[in-house]
Amino acid sequence: MHRRLIAPGAFAASLLLAIPASAADYSPGAPGIGDPYYPAYGNGGYDVSHYDLRLKYQPATDKLEGTATLLARTTQDLSRFNLDFLLDVSEVRVNGAKATFAGSGEHELEITPKSPLPKGTDVTVVVRYSGVPSSKQAYGFTSWHRTPDGGVAANEPEGAWWWFPSNDHPLDKATYDVSVLVPDGSQAISNGTLQSTSSRVGWTRFNWRSNKPQATYLATLAVGRFDVTTGRTESGIPVVNAYSKDLGDNYDAARASIERTGEIADWLAEYFGPYPYNALGGYVPNTDTGYALETQTRPFYSPRQFANGTNVSVVVHELAHQWYGDLVSVAGWKDIWINEGFARYAQWLWSEHENEGTAQEIADYVYASHPADDPFWTVKPGDPGPENQFHLAVYDRGALALQALRNRIGDEDFFAILKGWPAKYAYGNATVGDFVAYAEQVSGESLGALFETWLNRASKPGGVASPGVGV
Ligand code: ARG
Ligand code: ZN
Repeated sequence: MHRRLIAPGAFAASLLLAIPASAADYSPGAPGIGDPYYPAYGNGGYDVSHYDLRLKYQPATDKLEGTATLLARTTQDLSRFNLDFLLDVSEVRVNGAKATFAGSGEHELEITPKSPLPKGTDVTVVVRYSGVPSSKQAYGFTSWHRTPDGGVAANEPEGAWWWFPSNDHPLDKATYDVSVLVPDGSQAISNGTLQSTSSRVGWTRFNWRSNKPQATYLATLAVGRFDVTTGRTESGIPVVNAYSKDLGDNYDAARASIERTGEIADWLAEYFGPYPYNALGGYVPNTDTGYALETQTRPFYSPRQFANGTNVSVVVHELAHQWYGDLVSVAGWKDIWINEGFARYAQWLWSEHENEGTAQEIADYVYASHPADDPFWTVKPGDPGPENQFHLAVYDRGALALQALRNRIGDEDFFAILKGWPAKYAYGNATVGDFVAYAEQVSGESLGALFETWLNRASKPGGVASPGVGV
């Protein structure tokens, strides 16, 4: 503002050189990354490439404390920026210098570095924090599930706020080192590979590494008392599974399901291309949470999913997400169909593989089981709205859309698309529109009307029973 008062001329020009000409143009990073479903999620002005989380957790009190070190790069001239976080912060350093910080909104931490940060520079942010995750809520809910032997962070679309500060949106993927100190006898489970463990003075440290780009909601931490099994897929990927020792009646069914992880990942690779990570597994903490989650490399399962015996289908679903959701992530949360429609369809393919009904038979059954006046058909999988992001229709109508596509373009092109898509957008993000464009490119057909009918109309489409119908 004051620069406008300086008269033009040589003197003014030299003044402008002395005071960086752009200083007045530095501005705060946006408090949201620009997702219309969740305007406050993620942040603007920087991009994180790596999270190093060095934590200590006490199961008896649910106290979590430690240091997060973020490696980031600015994407604008930045006077200030936000992280998404709920726990109590005691110190923030940016490039070594203490920064001022303040909480704002439901889950925002506003950080003002000592010196403004020019666009395109590497920045190291160190956040020291502590807190009791189970005591924190945002918008009236929690993603931290306290268990009798510890706790676990798992939810979608938001899971990180309760355990580490982040740029919480799938558009900003990063690699992770998660190092957690827990009392001897407890274990810490996270994504990727267990690099090492070490014990002293009654505490054991678990060092986990997830070395491929990973969305924040796919990062997980569980502390508890687990039985750990190890193995290898036929294709050579090491598998590490963990089962709470206290699953009671559900223990054997959980284990009989999840121990098939390697077999299922190899089977999925035939459809989706090579498994994209160097670690694999699953874990079941002692929680009564209702959902499972495709946490990267190592999905989270709830004991409830195994209450009726084995549930291999849920394992197929979460492992399918490793390609559809984790490797290729939504660009915005309205794109959730590119995750859930495909993970559901993988379950139908598995059913066919197990001789429990073909995908077409299941599609016909699902289609018939929702009459035209069922509100199920008012949910548009291509843009369900935040309130219906995980509505059954996103899954089942979403998979019906794929059966309709398969019937329209034939198996050869359909399966070429299922395999080509993860490779095309590997380690990145995509939209529903990107998928439609890709399907049209591979098949050479104009598919706008088909996807409009199955994804974006608030009414029941025509039948899927015979090829080409319902277009
Ligand atoms: N992506 C998860 C799954 O496929 C769904 C998570 C639902 N989250 C929730 N809070 N209900 O199983
Ligand atoms: Zn899913």
